[in-house]
Amino acid sequence: MRVDQPVAIQLADYTAPAFSVSRVELEFDLEPEFTLVTATQYLKRCDGGNDDLVLHGEELGLNSIRVNGRELREDQFTLTDELLTLSDLPDEFTLTIQNTINPAANTRLEGLYRSSTMYCTQCEAEGFRRITYFMDRPDVMTTYKVTIRADKETNPVLLSNGNNIENGELEGGRHYAVWEDPHAKPSYLFALVAGDLAKVEDTFTTKSGQDVTLRIFVEHGNETRCDYAMDSLKRSMRWDETRFDLEYDLNIFNIVAVSDFNMGAMENKSLNIFNDKYILADEKTGTDTDFDLIEGIVAHEYFHNWTGNRVTCRDWFQLSLKEGLTVFRDQEFSGDQRSHAVKRIEDVRMLRARQFPEDAGPLSHPVRPESYIEINNFYTATVYEKGAEVIRMMHTLLGEENFQKGMKLYFERHDGQAVTCDDFVAAMQDASGFDLTHFKLWYSQSGTPNVDVKSADYDQETQRYSLTLRQETKPTAGQASKQSLHIPLRVGLLGEAGEDQKCYLDGVEASEHLLHLKEEEQTFVFGNVVTKPVLSLNRGFTAPIHLKTGQSQAEMAFLMGNDHDSFNRWEAGQQYAAELLTKMVAEYQTGKDFSIDNDFVAAMGHIARNEDLEPAFKACALKLPSEEFVSEQMDLIDVDAIHAAREALRVAVATAHRAVFEEIYDHSTVHGVFEPTAEQAGLRDLRNTALAYMAAADANEAPALLKAHYEAADNMTDAVAGMRLITDYPGEMKKAVFDHFHDIWKDNAIVMDKWLGAQAISSHPDVLSDVKTLMDHPVFNFNNPNRLRALVGSFCIGNMVRFHAADGSGYNFLADIIIRLDKMNPQVSARLAGPLGQWKRFDEGRQIKMKSALQRVADVDGLSRDVFEVVSKSLV
Ligand code: TRP
Ligand code: ZN
Repeated sequence: MRVDQPVAIQLADYTAPAFSVSRVELEFDLEPEFTLVTATQYLKRCDGGNDDLVLHGEELGLNSIRVNGRELREDQFTLTDELLTLSDLPDEFTLTIQNTINPAANTRLEGLYRSSTMYCTQCEAEGFRRITYFMDRPDVMTTYKVTIRADKETNPVLLSNGNNIENGELEGGRHYAVWEDPHAKPSYLFALVAGDLAKVEDTFTTKSGQDVTLRIFVEHGNETRCDYAMDSLKRSMRWDETRFDLEYDLNIFNIVAVSDFNMGAMENKSLNIFNDKYILADEKTGTDTDFDLIEGIVAHEYFHNWTGNRVTCRDWFQLSLKEGLTVFRDQEFSGDQRSHAVKRIEDVRMLRARQFPEDAGPLSHPVRPESYIEINNFYTATVYEKGAEVIRMMHTLLGEENFQKGMKLYFERHDGQAVTCDDFVAAMQDASGFDLTHFKLWYSQSGTPNVDVKSADYDQETQRYSLTLRQETKPTAGQASKQSLHIPLRVGLLGEAGEDQKCYLDGVEASEHLLHLKEEEQTFVFGNVVTKPVLSLNRGFTAPIHLKTGQSQAEMAFLMGNDHDSFNRWEAGQQYAAELLTKMVAEYQTGKDFSIDNDFVAAMGHIARNEDLEPAFKACALKLPSEEFVSEQMDLIDVDAIHAAREALRVAVATAHRAVFEEIYDHSTVHGVFEPTAEQAGLRDLRNTALAYMAAADANEAPALLKAHYEAADNMTDAVAGMRLITDYPGEMKKAVFDHFHDIWKDNAIVMDKWLGAQAISSHPDVLSDVKTLMDHPVFNFNNPNRLRALVGSFCIGNMVRFHAADGSGYNFLADIIIRLDKMNPQVSARLAGPLGQWKRFDEGRQIKMKSALQRVADVDGLSRDVFEVVSKSLV
């Protein structure tokens, strides 16, 4: 057991800071192992009283503290591992602190650290305190002037936030740069980069005519792989002007790509720092998914300039204020750039795979949490993706015009401030006149609501259709009782020909209505419904809920073929398949043969043959729900049964329509040069989906088919698709494919992550021993988060059936990794631990093994706060 049990921070304990900082000057003398930091802060007491000044600081070497120029004696301050406290201070004073740090020894990748040969920083959420002593909290906003001194030959590039106002030479081969950021910001948005970097440059003219210099800095040799990121940046800047009326506010915008990074990217003011995999791609190395992610993440970080930086969070409980809103904005951007229907399907698929299980498990928390031990653990699917759903529901309730009025009022009221989710909702409510009092419960109540159709009655004579819905949210970790939520549900009533019937609801005639479900049980009566309708509910997934309509398979098949709402058309197929798979799982468990539903197989055939469908959508519709999605529907997850049932259904669809899939495969080839466009990506996805069915139709022929596909591939998307399919068939052909890929790409770490990942997801029973062997391969590096996620993450999250092997080998493997990694990088280690927390969903044998793996981690001495929190909550 650890000696000092970490304590939880509570939202209810929030107090405003006792001092404000009017400006700060930072000086860095960079050396890999011994960097000197001199920080001068101009402080002012916020109101009368005699409060101490409490500064955060971790793993810093303290040299000196001066108040108004006078150095403090050791008895004039108190220093602990995490805090520096100064007492008896005047109301206004200058504080100069000098301290040292060791970037080369920083393996946590928080604060100032080294990645390859460069220096870079990561300060969100609480990394700035690893650079110098400071009130490291988002409601302390100030302007920064930064001087960087470093060896010129190894660090020709010196960057920080804002404008570069001065440069010069120094003795001993050193030089310096001074940067000044005119915008007040919290410390988590501070950034510094130094190194020998190449750059690509472009320009953007804002709608009011301001010229902005755009630069992307990368390691030498990568200059040619930034085009798509740069193009995405320019499109993001334009889109934010047209859709949100938001313009960039400086004449310079820098992005730096680094190869050691804990997360995706960071929105530091005018100096975004990126995980290099979300910048670097070209037509040879990038898959369509890579380009999609680059576009979305570049946009996300850029959009933070307004939603996050100009208006930031009062405290970290409000994280979704910036993250939920910014995810909503990047989703809308990608939808506007590509296809809204396909984007929505992808986002919902992700929400269900990540957020729904999180919300039903031991780490369940509201979009605005009320307590945390380590804030790094709260950069979750709930805060980000469910947070975006909450914003989206407000958008649905208010409509685009009122929503934009709300945004405008939000900025009028709060530009330059650190605020709360309540402030955001208040702006939306005041600008639109729409009462959001009940709706706000979505911020504080955790759990995914269940909505059931209790009854749906049609009366031919009166032409009335009455629909009774019930909602219920099950108790979640730390929240026993639940209230009814305000749930917006878009709905259509289909007629016999599949048309949306025009009908009345509350005196309004329309072919589509928005239901406001607020009570536990509520009946909606539609008038003028000419024929018995087929219900299409929660269109576009207007609410993030579990919905049970109780519809017959015939109705689901009808919706699959006819719904005007593309999302629900896809959804009907998913629900239909999930229902069948649940039945098949029961058959497997009772030792019966699988009964294959021929109507479903036929419905899939209709989709495959339908020439009117957009290829990208058709690819989505042809994919069976994931094993994760199916397990979401079951009380007790039986990974073997789910895997077997899904494979059987896949083979049945494949065998029945083999000729159609072959035809799709032959006719969906992209002609002309590779371009990362939505159209080409859709075609490639459709063709590779057909390929997967062709392989499933004949296991004996599969390896040869897939090898031929791999060899014919002239782009990374197709090559990786071949690799990820042939991985299930160990043998000479698989080996030839993987060896070939290795020989070509072994020097490109980002590309080799695809090679590692493809091996880790093999359904072959021996895959874990392959994964272990790969950990000794030269391309693998335990210290690099991307390599870990590609290999270990893919196995533990992307390979359900083998990670959950009944002998517990997967669990033991993961526990070993968590323990080893925690000593170096607690943030990434804690994030890997998630899957073990799902133990309650499994059979008793697995439960015991998962719990004992967790316990083994919990028993380690000196566990980080990050892992301690995840593991101790998971064991409850
Ligand atoms: N704010 C970042 C984003 O959403 C994510 C982030 C939070 C992050 N903490 C981090 C990135 C730590 C890297 C490391 O865009
Ligand atoms: Zn973000």
